[in-house]
This record gives sequence, structure tokens and C-alpha cells, in this order.
Amino acid sequence: MNRIASVVVVFLLTLLGLYGSVSAGRDLNGDHLRLPSEASVFFERIGGVADDDDDVTSGTRWAVLIAGSSGYWNYRHQADICHAYQLLRKGGLKDENIIVFMYDDIAFDEENPRPGVIINSPHGDDVYKGVPKDYTGEDVTVDNFFAVILGNQAALTGGSGKVVDSGPNDHIFVYYSDHGGPGVLGMPTSPYLYACDLIEVLKKKHASGTYKSLVFYLEACESGSIFEGLLPEGLNIYATTAANAEESSWGTYCPGEYPSPPPEYETCLGDLYSVAWMEDSDMHNLRTETLHQQYELVKTRTASDNSAYGSHVMQYGDIGLSKNSLFKYIGTNPANENYTFVDENSLMPSRKVTNQRDADLVHFWDKFRKAPEGSPRKVEAQKQFMEAMSHRMHIDHSVKLIGKLLFGIEKGSEILNTVRSAGQPLVDDWNCLKTLVRAFETHCGSLSQYGMKHMRAFGNICNARINKDQMAEASAQACVTFPSGPWSSLHKGFSA
Ligand SMILES: *[C@@H]1O[C@H](CO)[C@@H](O)[C@H](O)[C@H]1NC(C)=O
Repeated sequence: MNRIASVVVVFLLTLLGLYGSVSAGRDLNGDHLRLPSEASVFFERIGGVADDDDDVTSGTRWAVLIAGSSGYWNYRHQADICHAYQLLRKGGLKDENIIVFMYDDIAFDEENPRPGVIINSPHGDDVYKGVPKDYTGEDVTVDNFFAVILGNQAALTGGSGKVVDSGPNDHIFVYYSDHGGPGVLGMPTSPYLYACDLIEVLKKKHASGTYKSLVFYLEACESGSIFEGLLPEGLNIYATTAANAEESSWGTYCPGEYPSPPPEYETCLGDLYSVAWMEDSDMHNLRTETLHQQYELVKTRTASDNSAYGSHVMQYGDIGLSKNSLFKYIGTNPANENYTFVDENSLMPSRKVTNQRDADLVHFWDKFRKAPEGSPRKVEAQKQFMEAMSHRMHIDHSVKLIGKLLFGIEKGSEILNTVRSAGQPLVDDWNCLKTLVRAFETHCGSLSQYGMKHMRAFGNICNARINKDQMAEASAQACVTFPSGPWSSLHKGFSA
């Protein structure tokens, strides 16, 4: 009873705070939305010439595109992936060599103001048209993603059966856009993808001798943690990530930002790093632009002019590969042949962005704000907003409490929040990490998209050599105080 009452109070205060800061923020500087205190900062927002192209002719270009989320409030991830597909087709790749994973619940969602259409920028064209539905809905799984990369048709469940059937001279491009957390990437299905398993798959692919080089572009919160200290040199893999191992990545073209989506859109249309590399690639002759040039450009644009709201684009693996042209991996649009990359024409103005983890709240809030007073839609938006916030409070509080139960009041938060020195992976024993997450979820309910942010805490609990039984006991105690509640219905779609 008390807990429910306090949730309601926090919710109301937050709405009041929002009203306050929306009006105040607009007066002061346009787009900024700020809320006080750790618990309520849910709306943190602000607002060369390439070498060796010759060997392309002897190999095939392959691409794997994957959006790891579902739900209209995650519109942007599937929009990113669809945009990438259009880019690759214009670049000359064939459908048989592009494998797309997307839940495919956006284009015809009842919230979509343009049924059957997906856009990735405010004035952008439809990017949904023609996108192959290789792996959709419940077929968007970790196992299918790995089977596709490995060219292992026998291991597939459902889907089109298309896999990366590559040979030793081929080039592979993988692009993943989703939520993530330290050491983990989201999936619209259960379970999530753990960094250690992805690295094993990449090593296996390398050992099979079925590519010449592979480029991996990754958009997710804490995406650096997927490769840092884990991806060795010598696999002929070059990876860049939207963020380092300990920070959020950012959505863009969100309601209330500049540039903002068309007014009927109550959701973010894209992600900052993703839009940066794709809008650059859309414009240029990619025979004359290297991976390194694009990395520098994307890094600058993603950092934003205000360091509090950008992220650090990182690169991992065989950095030497970045002297290759983009053409080698994603082809080039013949219409751009006269648009050679030069630094001056490559930088777009920086833009205001939304923290990945708050984009769902932005959606519910915008829906709430625009719905007519007293309408069922307003009630529904309020309920969704409140459920999302309750879930956050529940997850944050239970993880914090578990830290105190395991390590004591003083040491608890220090141990949970420890960041290991650069170049070290999140955790030494990944099986421990998986086991402890399971123990937590058994007693406390699904971590869900938002809860992935606590993976570092779970990693640190493993690094402190806490075992499964100790974790289960602490979770049982913590989640008696904060039992799982009705908000789980909102998040059941993406439980880990
Ligand atoms: C590029 O420039 C050349 C020379 O001016 C011209 O002939 C060609 O048509 C241009 N290509 C495109 C795609 O516009």
C-alpha cells in the first residue's frame, strides 16, 4: 500500500516537474527538459583516398542487419535497419546477400501515423518498402543471428533460411541497432545476446576461413563493452561502436528536439551514431571514403557539441582495416560518383538528442501531452508512463539493495559501480554473469530493456566471487521488499 502510494506521488511529482521544466526550459533555451534528482532524471536530454579496391571484384559483399528491439516506442531501431537496407541496395548489394532481422511490428502499428511507411529522418523517404522479411517476430533470436553469421542453415529456427554463405575472398558487414548494457545486447525475444558468445561466434567464423574481412557497426548503450578486452586483433575484424563501455548511446529526431519529427510522430525516428554513418554514406562516393574517415566524422557528430549529451564512438579489432574504402563493404550509389568525401562537406550541424533509455518515456510523455483531456488515450499513456517508471524504480532499488545485502551498507554501491581499467572486459567469468542474472530474475522479475544498464553491477558481483546461492538469497530478500508488480506486463515482450 505504502509502496503504491509513493509510486503515485513520485509519478505526480514527475509530471509536475515536467510541466515546470517544459515551460521553464522552453523559455530559457528551447528544447531542454531537465528533472531533478537521480530517481527522476528520466528525461535527460537537450534537448584520403582508399586503397586496394581491386580485390572486391574477386569477392562478394554480404551484410547482416539487425534491430534488436520491438515496440512502437523503439521505432528508431527498425527505422535504422530499414535505412541501412536501402543504402546497401543503392550501393549495389543484392537481396540474396543482405540478411535482415527485424521484429516488423512498426510499419502497421496503430500508433504509426503513416501506415505501411517507416522514415528515419524528419523529411526522409519511406525506408520500409522492399525490405526483405528474413527473420521477423519470434524468429529474431540470438541463435538465428549466430547461425546466419556462421552460414549454418541447419541451426536455424524459422525465417527465410538465408545465411551468410560466404567464401574466403568475401567481405562482410554487420550492423546492429538496439538497446544494450554492459556486456549485453538486447533482442526482442529471450534471451539477450552476451558479448562473450558473440566473440566466440566471430572467432569461429574466422576459423572457418569464410571471409577476407568483416566490419561491425554497433549502436547500443555501453556498446564498447561488447568488444573491449574481448575482440582480439588478427581476426580481420574492424568494429566501431556508438558509445564506450560505460555510457549511454543516443536517439535522435525525437519529439521536442530540433530537428524534430513531423508533429504526428510521438517517437524518435533514429539514433545518433546510426544516422551519422548512414547520412554520410548516402551522400558520398564511397570508393573515395575510407572507414577511418567515416569513423572520424561519426565520432565528431555523435560527440555532439555538448559533451553531457553525446557519446564516444570507439573502434576495436584490426584498426588497420579502416584504411579500406567503405565501397568494399557497402558498395556505393552510382548517383554519388561526383561527391567525393572532403571534411568540409561532411559535417552536419549537431543536434539535440535523447538518451536511448529514456526514449520510451519520451514516447509515452508525448502521447500523454498531445492526447485530449479526459480521453482514453490520455489515460492509457499515463498508465504506460507510470508502469515504465515503476519498473525502473523496482529494478534500481532491488539492485541497490542486493549490493547492500551482499557487501554491506557502505561498500555496496562502491562495489557495484566499479569500472575496471580500460582494456579489461566487464567480467572474467561470463557463465557466472549469466547465472547471477537468472538468479536475480527468478526473484525480482525480468530486467528488461531498462534493466540492462545494471549489467555492470552483476559483473562486479561476479568479480567479487559471489556465488549463485548467495545471489539468490540476496535477491529473494531484496525483492520481498520490492516485489514484481503489474508493470511487468508492459515489459514482458523483452524479458531476458
Ligand atoms: C559526374 O561528372 C561527370 C563530368 O562532369 C559527368 O559526365 C557525369 O555525368 C557525372 N555523374 C553523375 C552521376 O552525375
